[in-house]
Amino acid sequence: MTDNKLIEVNGLKSPKGAFLLGHLPQFNTYNKHQVLERWVEECGELFKIHFVGKQFVVSANPDFNSQMLRLRPEVFKRFSKIDEILKEMGVDGVFNAEGTVWKRHRRPTAEALSVKNIKTYYPIILDKTKGILEKFKNYSQLNTIVNVQKEFMAFTIDITTEIAFGHKLDTINNKSNSFQKHLEVIFPMINSRVTAPIPIWRYFKRKKDKILDESLKSIEKVIYEFINDAKKRIAENPKLKEQPSNFLEVLLVENKDENFTDEEIYGNVFTILLAGEDTTSNSLSWAMFYLAQHPEIVAKVRREAREVYSKDTPDTYENVEDLKYANAVAQEAMRLKPTTPQLYLESNEDVIIDNVSIPKGTSIILQNKVAQTHDDYFSNPNSFVPERWIASECPMQKNHTPNVMRAFGGGPRYCPGMHLAKTEMTVLISTLCKYFDFKLEVKPETIREQFEFTMYPENLKVTFIPAK
Ligand code: HEM
Repeated sequence: MTDNKLIEVNGLKSPKGAFLLGHLPQFNTYNKHQVLERWVEECGELFKIHFVGKQFVVSANPDFNSQMLRLRPEVFKRFSKIDEILKEMGVDGVFNAEGTVWKRHRRPTAEALSVKNIKTYYPIILDKTKGILEKFKNYSQLNTIVNVQKEFMAFTIDITTEIAFGHKLDTINNKSNSFQKHLEVIFPMINSRVTAPIPIWRYFKRKKDKILDESLKSIEKVIYEFINDAKKRIAENPKLKEQPSNFLEVLLVENKDENFTDEEIYGNVFTILLAGEDTTSNSLSWAMFYLAQHPEIVAKVRREAREVYSKDTPDTYENVEDLKYANAVAQEAMRLKPTTPQLYLESNEDVIIDNVSIPKGTSIILQNKVAQTHDDYFSNPNSFVPERWIASECPMQKNHTPNVMRAFGGGPRYCPGMHLAKTEMTVLISTLCKYFDFKLEVKPETIREQFEFTMYPENLKVTFIPAK
């Protein structure tokens, strides 16, 4: 991409593959993203692969990727396979919508998750933080080894359902954990179906397909209950028509231009649940993975917490704005371990990006994690150094390129839940470090990057020790 000669996709390099199956056999593994990362080392930032004749372009060039992300929804869309699989599961919302339909869905979603609204919803985040802190205090007394990823998932499910749908769950205290159970089934199945070369489930339902159907049915039932409850609230309280109090009410309130059908509302509610909980809980788990190995960083988060708030938890949103170091810990965890290490796009038309000619219908895998962990963009790129995010504190600022960060995507479809996620992460990291030290109960090198649509640390086990 350095000289001006036009490059055709067919002329791109390709890693070694099998004759007919192409690169499929190497891709048939739990850590597909790492296979792609190895191929970047072998072939450079731009190359092509194929699975039984179906071709994909892979790009790890942050500028190239940024340009494609910005040209949505017109020139690029998400992989059509994602839309196909989600629609088949009955999910038709902002994540898989395209073109003008996407614009219609995006507006209320972005509005519901705006900074202004997250400030208003802060008491919910605080309440759930207090709930999980009490639970961890209890674990600490009993010296329980904690599967933190599961616990953080309960935390994010409770927050998302209350903020987005006005529905109080208590998954944290195991009082309503059916959502968690079903979401744990659905995520891996989306991943395995999106990457499956043959849609076997359409011809023959295996055990796992039947379990998925059951989970989808159960979630559908609960979401329609949320929708009917919200309809009743609006009918009983007409003021909500002028001032809806959550995302679901915004979608339901009659609006001449929007007029969402029940199916669209269901699709968006489901999308927010899917998009909002695994991503955030996995990012928190990665932060814990590093904190448990860096007691000096935990001590520094604790010092900041003690300076900013006097109680166990940061009681106001203004407190959270002052937690710069806890926020930097979250940011650094997402740099090294973005839960979506890659994004999948498809071109809607023939287009030239830099000097690469991309024909209509080309599938492109954007390898965003590569730049986030490369020494072209960050000093000492594989070390966990939250200070690099605080300009006045770090010599590493000389080589620091925040705009290659794509943990939340980019362009007009960047993650609308970013403020909520960052707030949840900062508050919980600060609160837990204020109260506890952490001990990793497994060797760090045994903790694998497991990719199931989002990437999480498999087998992360931690004990909580009250801080002195
Ligand atoms: C640390 C937590 C999170 C991470 C790392 C994350 C990451 C992402 C990424 C990479 C995308 C794709 C962006 C793109 O295509 O450019 C995305 C989209 C999305 N996220 Fe998040 N997300 C997080 C939390 C949340 C939360 C808390 C919510 C809502 C409660 C949410 C709702 C969404 C939605 C609705 C989309 C689709 C946006 C669209 O297509 O227009 N996310 N997220």
